[in-house]
Amino acid sequence: MALFITALLSLSVAMVGVGGATPATTPSSVHSVIQCHDWGESGDGAVRVMEGEACWLLCPLFSHPTVYNYSSVQAAGLNLVWYHVAAGQDLEQPIDFHHPDQRLSKEREKLWLQPTTMQDAGQYICMLRNRTSCAKIAVRLEVLPSGQDPNCEVKAAVPPTPVIAPIQEGRTLTCPDLEDIKLPNTSHSVTWYHECNAFGNFNIDRVFKGDKLVIHVMLEHYQGLYHCVVTYETKGRAIKFTRVVNVTAVSSSGLPKQPNILNPAKEQLYPVKQGSEVTLICRVSLPYLEGPRETWWTIDGKTVDQLADPRISFTSRVVLNYFGDWTVENVLRIQDFSSEDLTREYNCSGRNGRDVATRRAVLEEEVYLPSVELGCGLGVTLFLMLVLFVVYHIFWLELLLLYRSWFGTDERCTDDKEYDIYISYARNSEEEQFVLLTLRRVLENELGYTVCIFDRDSLPGGTITDETLTFVGRSRRVLVVLSPGYGLQGTQALLELKAGLDSMAWGGHLRVILVQYKPLRRGGWVRELRRARVALALVRWQGDKSSDLSSRFWKRLRVELPVRRIKD
Ligand SMILES: *[C@@H]1O[C@H](CO)[C@@H](O)[C@H](O)[C@H]1NC(C)=O
Ligand SMILES: *[C@@H]1O[C@H](CO)[C@@H](O)[C@H](O)[C@H]1NC(C)=O
Ligand SMILES: *[C@@H]1O[C@H](CO)[C@@H](O)[C@H](O)[C@H]1NC(C)=O
Ligand SMILES: *[C@@H]1O[C@H](CO)[C@@H](O)[C@H](O)[C@H]1NC(C)=O
Ligand SMILES: *[C@@H]1O[C@H](CO)[C@@H](O)[C@H](O)[C@H]1NC(C)=O
Repeated sequence: MALFITALLSLSVAMVGVGGATPATTPSSVHSVIQCHDWGESGDGAVRVMEGEACWLLCPLFSHPTVYNYSSVQAAGLNLVWYHVAAGQDLEQPIDFHHPDQRLSKEREKLWLQPTTMQDAGQYICMLRNRTSCAKIAVRLEVLPSGQDPNCEVKAAVPPTPVIAPIQEGRTLTCPDLEDIKLPNTSHSVTWYHECNAFGNFNIDRVFKGDKLVIHVMLEHYQGLYHCVVTYETKGRAIKFTRVVNVTAVSSSGLPKQPNILNPAKEQLYPVKQGSEVTLICRVSLPYLEGPRETWWTIDGKTVDQLADPRISFTSRVVLNYFGDWTVENVLRIQDFSSEDLTREYNCSGRNGRDVATRRAVLEEEVYLPSVELGCGLGVTLFLMLVLFVVYHIFWLELLLLYRSWFGTDERCTDDKEYDIYISYARNSEEEQFVLLTLRRVLENELGYTVCIFDRDSLPGGTITDETLTFVGRSRRVLVVLSPGYGLQGTQALLELKAGLDSMAWGGHLRVILVQYKPLRRGGWVRELRRARVALALVRWQGDKSSDLSSRFWKRLRVELPVRRIKD
């Protein structure tokens, strides 16, 4: 008979289930059918449980005690009935609390599953009714398969409960739900895990006190997930459930907690330019405190939202988070900055649970005068160039000699020539005297060059032409002493000049230098000399003015001669 009624009941429930929409009707008895107020599915989201663990469902009708209060509805003679709609089905089945396995039980407004199986997933409908009135609501149960996780000894289906622990301070962790539920009248035990590992006995800072885990001194590496597994026995069966606590360290509660404006600093000026986009950056230090923390800008006392000016926008982000103490960057952007904007008052503020801090940002218009900067820069550059120009023109010979003495290479190291200088001159007594007494003396004795003078160094008896060519070829420079008598056709001097020029043209590591002893007449510039004059340096002898070794003549000449360091 009882079986028949149950079957009938589920049949009519099935008909209602197919009927679907609210308000649906549900039998209050087999005989009369009443309207039932359907609240649909609870908005609090699904209840999640691990397969094989204990779980309880609270009838969501009682989550608003002002509407439904279990004691009072009980007193009013209303009954609480549970139905189950298995996952993937739409058949409401009354729950059989008398099944021999005794897994499901009802305790006041709670439905217990001890333990849960995969088949228990789906919707649970709790219905409160008497003969004339009815209300129902559904709650969804998700069952997660209890597969092994190689990285973690424990698994929990419920999201972690956040817990804040100030550094260096104590904090006691209780297993969530353990305090709230009334476990069956048996003893229970709680096992704690940190970051998936069971605790050893060697903890000094973290000890078990009953079901609780006491952290005596919070340290940074004590942060993270703590799993607690509650085990108890009911109806001869060992049952458990697992919960998670997410512990986050925050700065010590003894530290100052006042918010502080870092920028604008005292005396800080914000440069702004009219017509361009202006960005004001404010940095606020907001120490950790429970409750909301915020930062904002005001312009003449109004927030950006209140102003609702499309030119003005505002962003803020946490740029530093040190144990919950934030440094927030608060950026105010004003496009098309106008002279009117310049007169407004810009204040940056930050607030936490302790206090509010505000500081004004003082703006300063940037005076941009490119002509002044450019003018100054240009003036300085020009002046320096002028100075360098003058210095170079007065001292260029000295600079050149200095440079050569430091960086010039001694040609004696790179060739195998015998003479530094071959002197070619017109064989007149005056020139001869200049060559032998002045040029040769200074070049050989004072400047340390090896000098070849054909008339002195050639051996008697050789062919003049061959010997001349040989001597010129063995010299590094051919020094041509120009005077009116030089360059007469058929003279030895002209032969030397030709030999020098040819050797130079053929790349014989030789250079010809023209030294003007006396100005030439127009006709004195023979073809070879004209050819040489175009390409070569001409050093002028200026009589007595040139006799001193520090005179321009010698400096000029030394520049043309091979590098030789003068003995001090
Ligand atoms: C429910 O009602 C009873 C008496 O009607 C009252 O004592 C109790 O505090 C109420 N519970 C809640 C949670 O409001
Ligand atoms: C059924 O419950 C409603 C309110 O919950 C109450 O007003 C009504 O009197 C009850 N009916 C009976 C027959 O107890
Ligand atoms: C709970 O268990 C203890 C012994 O373990 C027993 O004395 C007590 O009566 C039990 N209470 C209930 C409500 O079952
Ligand atoms: C734990 O809390 C911290 C800080 O509140 C958060 O960043 C982290 O994602 C949380 N971890 C988990 C697994 O929820
Ligand atoms: C702006 O901040 C200054 C302190 O920096 C304060 O004196 C002033 O009253 C503030 N102005 C507004 C409108 O809040």
